[in-house]
Amino acid sequence: MAWTRKDLLTMRDLDAAEITLLVDSAASLEEIASREIKKVPALRGKTIVNLFYENSTRTRTSFEIAGKWLSADVINFSASGSSAAKGESFLDTAKNIEAMSPDVVVVRHSSSGASEILARAMRCSIVNAGDGCHEHPTQALLDLLTIRERKGHLEGLQVAIVGDIAHSRVARSNIHAMRKLGMTVTVAGPPTLIPPFVGELGVKVSHRLEDAIRDVDVIMMLRLQQERMTGGLIPSLREYSRYWGLTLDKLAAHARPDVLIMHPGPVNRGVELSPEVADGPYSVILDQVAKGVAVRMAVLVLLAGSKAAQA
Ligand code: CP
Repeated sequence: MAWTRKDLLTMRDLDAAEITLLVDSAASLEEIASREIKKVPALRGKTIVNLFYENSTRTRTSFEIAGKWLSADVINFSASGSSAAKGESFLDTAKNIEAMSPDVVVVRHSSSGASEILARAMRCSIVNAGDGCHEHPTQALLDLLTIRERKGHLEGLQVAIVGDIAHSRVARSNIHAMRKLGMTVTVAGPPTLIPPFVGELGVKVSHRLEDAIRDVDVIMMLRLQQERMTGGLIPSLREYSRYWGLTLDKLAAHARPDVLIMHPGPVNRGVELSPEVADGPYSVILDQVAKGVAVRMAVLVLLAGSKAAQA
């Protein structure tokens, strides 16, 4: 199948064939990372702007590396060092960036729906690099690629997503994608961190870590997003960690010996994961990061080359 969309905004919008196309394309681009000369001409002459209104280490760096390995011109824009700090609006900023003829704008913003606003207003392709608590589609794609390479397939796998589900765009994107690909998802966390609508997404809900991690193929631990919390949703970090932190002892007692431990980063060491788990044999956290470059190359190639983007 051919990619026909102008933008990549959500996993909810995509069907299984489109998700598989993105994951397959990323898999075919992975070998560039092991080349002596990490450069292919796929996007020569194209311009990519990384428009980041929120902090990022993994996503911004990997989009920049992906664009450069594809020979595109990549410009990084941080709101903190721009005229946004003088009061220029998000849309005015975007319109001014558009006047400089980019082919793809990659946007991260603290407001849910920010990337959709740009997609409606701008002719170039827009990639959602994380919008508030809403979605983070390229994170879900790199998670799927990591799981597929480790397990050999996706359909039929059981996944537990654990922690701060309420504020997690990573959880939302993964739930949409995994359900479409025939995976079973359990979300687990204290009731204050599980949104009431989550059952409508076709997932199981657990309020006990030991139950959620039993017999699953993948455990995806989430960061407590305290910057997005408005009230006291957990009694204390110490208590959260006691009940919801993953340790080697809990893994040994309740999880399968071939389970994968994932985390989108940044990790709060000693809160959601003990250092021994984060750095241990079950962990694929740095593999996720490495696959992020391949996924972002695939997204940029498909969008910059799509008919919709050229129309
Ligand atoms: N996973 C993720 O989005 O990490 P960053 O916030 O560092 O980009």
